[in-house]
Amino acid sequence: MINHRGPEFARLITSVTADVKHFYRTTHDLFFLTASGTGGLEAAIVNFFSPGDRVLCVSVGVFGDRFGTIAEVFGLQVDRLSFPYGQAADPQAVAEHLRAHPAIAAVLVTHNETSTGVTNDLEAIAREVKGAGKLLLVDAISSVGSIPLHTDEWGCDVVVSATQKSWMAPPGLATISVSPAAWEAHARARLPRFYWDLSAARRYLERGQTPWTPAVSVLFALEAALAMMKEEGREAIELRHARVGEFTRRGVRELGLELFADPAHASNTVTAIRVPSGVDARAVLRILREQHGIVLAGGQGKLDGQIWRIGHMGWVEERDIAPVIAALREVLHSSALAPGAV
Ligand SMILES: Cc1ncc(COP(=O)(O)O)c(C=O)c1O
Repeated sequence: MINHRGPEFARLITSVTADVKHFYRTTHDLFFLTASGTGGLEAAIVNFFSPGDRVLCVSVGVFGDRFGTIAEVFGLQVDRLSFPYGQAADPQAVAEHLRAHPAIAAVLVTHNETSTGVTNDLEAIAREVKGAGKLLLVDAISSVGSIPLHTDEWGCDVVVSATQKSWMAPPGLATISVSPAAWEAHARARLPRFYWDLSAARRYLERGQTPWTPAVSVLFALEAALAMMKEEGREAIELRHARVGEFTRRGVRELGLELFADPAHASNTVTAIRVPSGVDARAVLRILREQHGIVLAGGQGKLDGQIWRIGHMGWVEERDIAPVIAALREVLHSSALAPGAV
């Protein structure tokens, strides 16, 4: 490892910060936190609020619920506007809730809900939130870098991601962007903060450092991934994800399986499939893993046993998905599993 207080590190962090900002489409501040994505979400709460502040948590799944729970744990008053799993959030319902409750200071929302394979219409939600003059905090952990997110243009004040997602690097770093309006809230915020203090992050980044020892090796990996991403190009990457997402959904439908997400809001980074009745969801995952070397995810929380999820985020093309569909076909038609279920 290099000295994280030396010139090589300053060059590294300056360059990856600029590159990640390009993919965020932001000219505002952006920081690396040594944490998984959830650490980034916690930083998004402790930096911008005071105990008792009221926020609206817009949730369409497990990760949306988690964002609200973090806020609750830190003593915020959390209104929850939740939509059925598989559906996207309704921007008009967000607008109505904000009109009815003017004391709300901010809205927390997930851009791409990885637990259900739904992408919220963040642009429309942002229009309502900014129209109401509220702060907008976005969990973009499984979207930015693969699914278009216009941080500045849409008025997203705080946007969180994590290196193991679209950034194709190992886990270990969260990224968080901060708008000028969010900095104003930060100056007033009284929740305790130390490790996550973004004032410290800003002060140190001015000299090419982080306040605490960072995950240096992850930054090296990220630099390599960003070189690939820049070569392919931001818009080309987003188009590839749209193409691969469509390819995956088509393949799943052709197997006679039902997609879990509302087709109008299906995610281009993860596809959720309803497990047909009579099929042992876990057995399918085990056979795929052991006999085909393919790892799919199951459902989380109340979706356990109800869905399977195919990840197609980052370095993925149609030729990676085709064998997944073929293996699913084989496993579902094998006699070990409810023959004729699909
Ligand atoms: C949308 C979303 N939010 C939050 C998280 C939690 O991130 P981590 O597991 O890196 O803490 C994830 C992880 O998959 C996610 O997809």
